[in-house]
Amino acid sequence: MADLSTTFTGVRFENPFLLSSAPPTESESNILRAFEAGWGGVVTKTIGLHPVVNVAGPKTKFLRADADSPRLSMKKRPGAALHSSWNWELISDKTLDWWAPRLGRIKQAYPKHALVASIMAGSGNDTELRHWQELAIACQEQGCDALELNLSCPHMDRPDMGSNVGKDTELVSIVTQVVKDVATVPVWAKLTPSTTDIVVEARGAFLGGADAISSSNTFTSLPLVDPETLEFEINVDGLVSTGGLGGPAILPLSLAKMAQLTQAFPDKSFSGIGGISTFEHALSYFLLGCGTVQICTAAMLDHAIGTTVIRELNQGLARFLEKHADKGWTHVADFVGVRRDRVVAQSKIRRPDDKGYHGGYDAEGYASTEELGTRTS
Ligand SMILES: Cc1cc2nc3c(=O)[nH]c(=O)nc-3n(C[C@H](O)[C@H](O)[C@H](O)COP(=O)(O)O)c2cc1C
Repeated sequence: MADLSTTFTGVRFENPFLLSSAPPTESESNILRAFEAGWGGVVTKTIGLHPVVNVAGPKTKFLRADADSPRLSMKKRPGAALHSSWNWELISDKTLDWWAPRLGRIKQAYPKHALVASIMAGSGNDTELRHWQELAIACQEQGCDALELNLSCPHMDRPDMGSNVGKDTELVSIVTQVVKDVATVPVWAKLTPSTTDIVVEARGAFLGGADAISSSNTFTSLPLVDPETLEFEINVDGLVSTGGLGGPAILPLSLAKMAQLTQAFPDKSFSGIGGISTFEHALSYFLLGCGTVQICTAAMLDHAIGTTVIRELNQGLARFLEKHADKGWTHVADFVGVRRDRVVAQSKIRRPDDKGYHGGYDAEGYASTEELGTRTS
């Protein structure tokens, strides 16, 4: 039997597959079912101090693509394949008081399974920063193995919450530092992909003391307009706001973000998220340098907690370890990052004629490298 276990930021996981913070982890019963089904860990639905009120209508829908036409629509129809999930759900509508005893009970029932608490507060002043600490202390007191800071929810109005924090390097650093000041367990920072250069915000998180970066949360996006009704496919009273795109469509986008991160910080820890539903998808994240991966959309569509998904992820990893045993790969850690260095600048990719391309410099009608004082190829 292959050993699927791994240690990530000092926490032992029976396997490197986690349910990400989202509806599959929104209740005690779901989390217990998830552990029973074989998930190595779960990140709870994000916990806050204050009650939140969601929109009056569906919070999540799934966009599907036809096999034989370019049509994309949220309308259910036979033969269409999943393209993405779209959601504008806020953090948990249950507050810390509701969560705390349940976290303790879950940990007692499954002491060997990793329970990560996702937390979020405002960051506008010292009182609000102390809310982060209050959340962190309460969750770790209940036995949570790690904390994940939600710096990435894409639909918060306040400039000091969610992805608005994740877009502000200084706030990322401050929030991380404030939580690290009281944390006795590892702290992961979940960053937003909706920024110009995620490496900048990651640097802020690491400066604040983050033990790992989780990426990606959903990508800022809009649903499509229905050409018949001229209404957005998901709306309340005809109105929509930007929400988050997840699922298969974001897999290549999230991988690109992850490659940037793992190349910039090859010695740091990363948890890969975005579009994973099979071991093959997860493998790309591992090979780029992620020690664990997290799944949401695929699990939502599979008995609400991914019963089949986790079985196939575990089987896929076991098969992979068996196949590559001759390379000495007996654990996930043995192949984490082995393809990180294959992502290079365009100019490093071989041309039919080696002299043909110089990264847009020299001999292509643009300023020469000498004139600019730079050299990229
Ligand atoms: C309905 C829904 C609710 C979510 N809620 C949260 C949340 O509370 N906290 C959080 O950090 N991420 C949240 N996410 C983001 C997911 O954890 C995950 O980062 C994202 O969906 C990408 O993964 P996927 O492609 O596997 O879905 C949510 C996603 C969805 C679809």
